[in-house]
Formats: sequence, C-alpha cells, structure tokens
Amino acid sequence: DTSVASSGATTQGAACLLVLGMAGSGKTTFVEKIQTYLTARQTPPYVLNLDPAVRHIPYQVNIDIRDSVNYKNVMKKFGLGPNGGIITSLNLFTTKFSGVLELLEKRKQQVEYMVFDTPGQIEVFTWSASGAIITEALADAFPTVVVYVMDVLTGSSPITFMSNMLYACSILYKSKLPFVIALNKVDLIDPTGVLRWITDFEAFDLAVEQEKSYAGNLSRSLGLILEEFYGAIKTVPVSARSGEGLPQLFKAVNESIEEYNRDY
Ligand code: GTP
Repeated sequence: DTSVASSGATTQGAACLLVLGMAGSGKTTFVEKIQTYLTARQTPPYVLNLDPAVRHIPYQVNIDIRDSVNYKNVMKKFGLGPNGGIITSLNLFTTKFSGVLELLEKRKQQVEYMVFDTPGQIEVFTWSASGAIITEALADAFPTVVVYVMDVLTGSSPITFMSNMLYACSILYKSKLPFVIALNKVDLIDPTGVLRWITDFEAFDLAVEQEKSYAGNLSRSLGLILEEFYGAIKTVPVSARSGEGLPQLFKAVNESIEEYNRDY
C-alpha cells in the first residue's frame, strides 16, 4: 500500500523530511514535485526553504529563510564572500529557530509532512554548527527522515557513485536519523545498474575492475565496507521532473519512521 493517507506519520503528527543533496542534484525540483504530489492527494505539506541565496523558488513556501535574513546585506555588513554570507545567514536564522519550532508545533496536527529544502552547497548544512542544531532540534521534536537526493546521471560512474555514497554515509553517521536515498533523474537514465551496485557488491566490484587507478582500488575496498551502510538505508529511484517513484518514496519514508520508532 503506497497511499500517503496510510502513513505512519499521521499517528504521531507530522514528519519532517530534510532534503539534502549535492549542488544540482535536484533538491528544489524534488521539493516542488513533492508539493504537487501531496497536494493532489489532499495532504499538502508544510514547506520551508533554508537556502538564503536561492533566487527563484518554484513552489509555495510556508517559511522562507529569506524573509528573516538578507544574504546580500549580511555579506556587505560582515565583509564576507558568498559562502561566508550563506553560512552566516544560516547562523543568524538558527538563533531564531525556536520561533520556527513553535510554528511547526502548531501545524503538526494539520499536515502530514514538513519538508525542508536546504542550501545548494550541501556542506553549508551538513558541516556547520547551524545545520547540526537545526537537525537535532527537529529530530527531538518530530519524526525526522533525511532524504538524500542523488543525481543518478553523474552517479553512474563507479568513482562518483562511491564519493556520493561516502558523503551520504557520513551524514547518516553524524545524524543517526532514518535515511532514504532518492536516486533522482531516472527519466534521463535507467538506474538499474546503480541500484545493483548497492545490493550486490560483486556487481560494483566488476564495474571498478576496469579502473586501474588508486581510486579504483580504494573504491573496491570501500564497496565492501559500505555494505553495512547499504543495509541501514532505503533507496528509491525517482524523477523530480516527472514525479515517477514518488509513491514508493513515501512508502520508504513511512517505513523508515516506523522502523526507527520501533528500534529506539
Ligand atoms: P541547487 O540550486 O544547487 O541547490 O540545486 P538543486 O539540488 O536544488 O537542483 P535543482 O532542482 O535546481 O535542479 C538542478 C537541475 O537539474 C535543473 O536544471 C533541474 O531542472 C534538473 N533536474 C532536477 N531533477 C530532475 C529530474 O528528475 N530529471 C531531469 N531530467 N532533470 C532534473
């Protein structure tokens, strides 16, 4: 049953979906499609934008970091470059995050999902104190799932695939939250090969066999080590453009929450 109405989230109020991914992986397009998908099922999500530098947002935002901090002014005021400006803007927003939590608390009985779009450069969120504070605050208050958007087109080379998986693994390791990988852009490329790498070490080994470089040898060893990580995550092929795979994605999200609640 992939219907959203039967999700585990309703029984405990809304669940938070923290959408993370490398620049250009498709986070914003994905959040837009999720909004359309859930709204069509009469369960519109509550959507938050945490990217202070984004110019255009193609979806309806309920809480927008840009309403609280002006990233260009922050750059000028503190004499910062673009990255420093983004990080400082997120820091300033985080000082007011208790107010955001209060708003989310008020909403949690009315919505099933609260979706967070994050800054383009993934490390701004995953390697900053603000990102950690926001993640912990959400996880303390609500069932929270990390949805890691991975571009299957760039990820179809074994070395890039492995870099992406290591990054994803480091986020799981740090956040210790339920983790779903959205293997995005399947309208452009068949994800079967990449999916097999996750379930079958030998298939990955075969793919990197051609790579005689140091990175090739390292990837083979890492492939073995990551088996433990693969066991802890769910991977769903999706297209943020066409909406393909979204029912399966929500099924995986709901199952992750149920498993997490059972185990902890
Ligand atoms: P940042 O702006 O760096 O945060 O990127 P992002 O991760 O938010 O990605 P965004 O949604 O801006 O998408 C990047 C590019 O990929 C855009 O040109 C999108 O149209 C395209 N894109 C995203 N998802 C898909 C998809 O499922 N299929 C196809 N074909 N293109 C996609």
